[in-house]
Amino acid sequence: MTIRHAFWLLAILTGVALTAQAEDLSDWRLPPVPVPADNPQTEEKIALGHQLAFDTRLSKNDSISCAGCHLPFAGGGGHTPRAFGHGGELGRWAPTWDNAAYAETLFWDGRANSLEEQTGALPGHMGPISSPDEMAGDIQAIVKKLNAIEGYRKQFKKVFGGPATPQNIAKAIAAFERTLVATQSPFQRYVRGEKDAISEAAKRGFRLFRGKARCITCHAPPLLTDNGFHNIGVPQVGPLSEDVGRFAVTKDEDDLRAFKTPTLYNAASLQFFMHDGAFATLEEVIEHYDRGGNPKDPKQDPLIQPLRLSKQEKEDLLAFLKSLTDPRLDRIQRPRLP
Ligand code: HEC
Ligand code: HEC
Repeated sequence: MTIRHAFWLLAILTGVALTAQAEDLSDWRLPPVPVPADNPQTEEKIALGHQLAFDTRLSKNDSISCAGCHLPFAGGGGHTPRAFGHGGELGRWAPTWDNAAYAETLFWDGRANSLEEQTGALPGHMGPISSPDEMAGDIQAIVKKLNAIEGYRKQFKKVFGGPATPQNIAKAIAAFERTLVATQSPFQRYVRGEKDAISEAAKRGFRLFRGKARCITCHAPPLLTDNGFHNIGVPQVGPLSEDVGRFAVTKDEDDLRAFKTPTLYNAASLQFFMHDGAFATLEEVIEHYDRGGNPKDPKQDPLIQPLRLSKQEKEDLLAFLKSLTDPRLDRIQRPRLP
């Protein structure tokens, strides 16, 4: 447990969080998206990234795009419990890319450090474009393919002053992803002062989230994640017999089966949950926490404890989770491709 987790736990136990935050919700406001100095946001770059993210030509055999696994109408996550790529069924579910713009590390085990790096377009960094299991692309071949398309050639020239390169492809896609933030969710409108933006049930759920249900210890404001990794006892399902999670990066025994805390925004639109898609509904997720995860796993985080929520409390928590959905993100369309 870090100092931050201890703080929230203490706040819950003493009721400090409730009284202090009932008046002032500014801690919960999503901050401006961090933008790297060498990749400023521009309308044209975002539009180009939007196209690239939906273009199957970024894969081997022109068969799969980023959006083929991160479906906007499914909360930006996958539509099968484990993702299917060139290598068949993967061991993990495709998490949402919504709000990934805020993440300090990417992937379930945090092995990538920026959205640019995560794409797998940059030399030396494995990611979906280059991973043989996912889009199986050869980045030099993709660069050539894109530069042979007149529309793309013109757009790359306009945005980057030259032809497509692995770096520019990564930058444009990352710029698009930095627009996928849930600032218009009812909960964010509520936090900004619109008192009726969320229902009374969601308000009660918000109180539970910070109090009895202890969600806040890991899904901390303002991003609803501590950017940390926890083993919360999710059952291992799918092709892998074991997924060591964060341990693969740190080799620290305490990180065995620990995965990144997701942000929960637009999670109500997701078709599956958790690193291996073990759950298909938010109700199942809440039941998992209510029973205290998997107490048989000796590595489970001690922050996970049985909650003993009533039926009404579970419904209220669900109403709160639903208030985190920004409808704009679920309506992103496939753009016209050159
Ligand atoms: C074959 C399906 C598939 C394709 C295609 C795909 N992804 Fe993913 N994506 C995944 C899976 C599975 C993970 C989780 C992998 C892991 O954690 O090891 C993931 C993780 C991510 C994450 C990390 C989110 C987070 O919060 O940690 C981002 C961002 C992302 N993908 C963006 C992209 C982009 C951009 C593209 C296109 C260049 C893309 N993905 C293509 C399946 C896919
Ligand atoms: C000990 C830290 C911790 C606590 C406490 C916690 N979570 Fe989580 N949560 C996580 C982690 C880590 C994951 C991902 C685990 C995995 O994939 O194996 C997760 C996943 C989820 C997901 C799935 C989201 C997705 O994109 O797949 C939901 C929904 C969720 N938590 C809601 C809650 C709620 C509601 C509570 C309170 C009842 C709560 N969490 C308490 C750490 C925590």
